[in-house]
Amino acid sequence: MYDIKTLGADVLREPASDVTAFDPELKRLVSEMFMVMKRGDGIGLAAPQIGILKNIFVVHVNGDTPRVFVNPEILETSMEQSPYEEGCLSVPGIYAEVTRPDRVRVQAYNEEGKRFTIDAGGLLARVVQHEYDHLRGVLFVDRLPEGKRERVLRMYKKRHR
Ligand code: NI
Repeated sequence: MYDIKTLGADVLREPASDVTAFDPELKRLVSEMFMVMKRGDGIGLAAPQIGILKNIFVVHVNGDTPRVFVNPEILETSMEQSPYEEGCLSVPGIYAEVTRPDRVRVQAYNEEGKRFTIDAGGLLARVVQHEYDHLRGVLFVDRLPEGKRERVLRMYKKRHR
């Protein structure tokens, strides 16, 4: 069983690489990712969060079907942006408002290697952008204004001493 890497782990800061083989191993990894996400009560999980530097994330937003994104590319983002409170299984106990585009168009592959494009809005758009950041070594706390980021990181350190 994989465990979740938390803030401070180098693997969370490195860029992931594309998946090249859509094989049974990929399917196993994807189903492990869903299990780890559910165990952590999360709605999204990116492979680097379990120490695997591959361009894969899984999302399961309430009321929607579980979704797998392999080698995702964000093709378009809306001009309109909104703040929304985010958290992350890799930064446990910390929640903060992050401003992001309201809608995104994403192209990706599923675990079978079938390409799809999705226009996401609402919480799905939010989670997709958060997870996409993980594939580039970016955490949601990086997107906070500097003063707020420092406060949040101090709080985190205090709690996890
Ligand atoms: Ni996260």
